[in-house]
Amino acid sequence: MPERWYQQAVVYCLDVETFQDSNGDGVGDLHGLMSRLDYLARLGVTTLWLNPIHPTPGRDDGYDVADFYGVDPRLGSLGDFVELVHQCENRGIRVMIDLVVNHTSDEHPWFRSARSSPDSPYRDWYVWSEAEPPKREEGVVFPGYQRGTWSYDEEAGLWYHHRFYEFQPDLNWSNPAVREEIGRVVAFWLELGVSGFRMDGAPFVIEEVHPDTGERTMHYEWLNDLRDHIGWRRGDGAVLAEANVPREQLLEFFGPRGDRLQMMFNFAENQRMFLALARGSATPVVTAIEASPALPPACSWATFLRNHDEIDLSGLKESERADVFAQFGPEPEMQLYDRGIRRRLAPMLGGDRRRIALAYVLQFSLPGTPVIRYGEEIGMGDDLTLEQRDSIRTPMQWADAPRGGFTTSDRPVRPVVAKGDFGYPVVNVRDQQRDPDSLLSWFERTIRVLRECPEFGTGTCAVLDTRSEQVLGLRYDGPSGSVLAVLNLAESPSTVDLAGQVEATDGFPVDELADRPYDPAPADLSAVEVDGRGYRWLRLSRTVGA
Ligand code: GLC
Repeated sequence: MPERWYQQAVVYCLDVETFQDSNGDGVGDLHGLMSRLDYLARLGVTTLWLNPIHPTPGRDDGYDVADFYGVDPRLGSLGDFVELVHQCENRGIRVMIDLVVNHTSDEHPWFRSARSSPDSPYRDWYVWSEAEPPKREEGVVFPGYQRGTWSYDEEAGLWYHHRFYEFQPDLNWSNPAVREEIGRVVAFWLELGVSGFRMDGAPFVIEEVHPDTGERTMHYEWLNDLRDHIGWRRGDGAVLAEANVPREQLLEFFGPRGDRLQMMFNFAENQRMFLALARGSATPVVTAIEASPALPPACSWATFLRNHDEIDLSGLKESERADVFAQFGPEPEMQLYDRGIRRRLAPMLGGDRRRIALAYVLQFSLPGTPVIRYGEEIGMGDDLTLEQRDSIRTPMQWADAPRGGFTTSDRPVRPVVAKGDFGYPVVNVRDQQRDPDSLLSWFERTIRVLRECPEFGTGTCAVLDTRSEQVLGLRYDGPSGSVLAVLNLAESPSTVDLAGQVEATDGFPVDELADRPYDPAPADLSAVEVDGRGYRWLRLSRTVGA
C-alpha cells in the first residue's frame, strides 16, 4: 500500500500572531516562528497548520480575510512565508494553511465593490436578498454573540447572508466565477509550497442558501472539483476539513470513493473523549469508535482534544453534557455559546500530570492523525478574563522572562498568562526542556514512540472486549505490524484478559510506551496489568520487508 504523508503526520496547530515575536512590536511573526522551528523539530511534529495568515481587520482572529493572496503585514511578507516553507522542508516539516473561503471580511475589496453598485463585477460573488428573509434568525454559529444569518446592508439596499458574524459576508459558491477564483487561491499557495489546507466551515462552503424558503442545498460535487484541482497542482496535496456534521453526512465529505476530502476532524470522538475522562469510563469512546463509519481507502480522521475554538459538546445528550460541564467547566465564565467549554486542557484537569498524559495517550490511541494545539505540550493555561475564544489564544510561554519570552514589547497582542499555577514563571518551555520529568519531555518521548507505531494512522482498528468498563483495549493491524493499546480511564488499577482477541508473535509483546515500567505481559495476553489512569502500548508484531 502506498504511504500517504497525512496518515503518518503529527500536526501542530499554531497562530503565528501569538507564537513568537521577533521585532518587538508585540505581535508574533513569521521570523519568530522560523526561530522556533528547531524546537518543533525536537518535539517531533511533522506538519504545521497555521491559523489564518492573510491581511485582515482582525475581528475574528484572522478568520475574516481581506486578501487571500497575501500575508498580513504584521506577520511578515510573502517572501518570509516562502522562506518559512523552505526552512520547514529542511527539517522534514510540512506546512498547511487555513482555507477560509466560506466568507470574506466585509472589508475585502470584493465585498466593498459588490455592495457599492448593482453593476459591480463582484455583486454576484455574495449572497443577497431583496426581501427580508423569513428565517433570518436561524442557523447562527455563535449564539449570544451573533444576531442572525442575514443582515441588511444600507449601501447595497439589500440583505446579505453570513453564516458567522455580520462582518463575514458569505461568498456565493453557486457562482462559477467564485469557484474559479478560489481555485486560483488554492493553486497560488500550493505553488508557494504548502502541502494542504485546513478547510474552514466546510459544510457552509458547499451549502446553497435559498433566502425565500430558508432551505439549504448541499453541493458535494464542488468538493470533487476542489480535490481534482489540487491534485493537478500537487499530487499529494491534502485537505483537512472542519465539518461538525451529523454522522450520516460525514461520508459525503470524504466522497463515496474517497474522491473528495482526505481528512476530517472527528468531532464526535472529541466530545466523547471528554465524557470518558469525566466519567472514568471507556464506554463513550468505544461507542464513538463503533459508531464511526468505515472510511474509504486513503481517507483519515484527524483527532484532537483542544484547538483554537471552544470544545463543542452539542453532540452529547443532556445528561452527558452536564457531566462534562460539572467536571471540566462548572463556572458560567468557562462555558461558551450554550454548548461548549473555553478552557485549555491542563486547567480542566487541575494540572494533574497523570490525567493530562492519559488524555493525550487516549487521543493518540484513536484511529487517525493527531492534531495538537500549541502550548498543550507544556500544559499552558487559559485567561478567562478575555472575550469568547480569546481565553485559549494567549501567547506561547517560552521562558521565565518578561512576557514569557514571547515579546519584548510591553504591549503584547494578547496578555501572556503571568500569574498562578499556569503563569509563565511556572509553565514555560525553557524550564521543561531541562527537566526530563516535565510534560514537554513526556510529549517528546511519546510523539517519538507514536511515530514508531504507524499502525495508529494506517492500520485497521478493532475494539477489544476488556470485560471492564474502565479499560479501553484497541488493536491495530497495519502493513507495518500490529499494536495493542490498553488504557485505564478510572482511578483503580486493573488487569484485563485479552487472550484469544490478540496474538503476539516472534518474541512480542513488548511495551513501546507505558505510564511506568510494567512486568512483561504474557505471550497470550491473558493478564495485562494497567494502573489507575495508566496506559500501555504493546507491540504485538512487526512486519519486516513489507
Ligand atoms: C471556524 C473557525 C472559527 C471561526 C469560524 C469563522 O469555525 O474554527 O475560529 O471563527 O470558522 O471563520
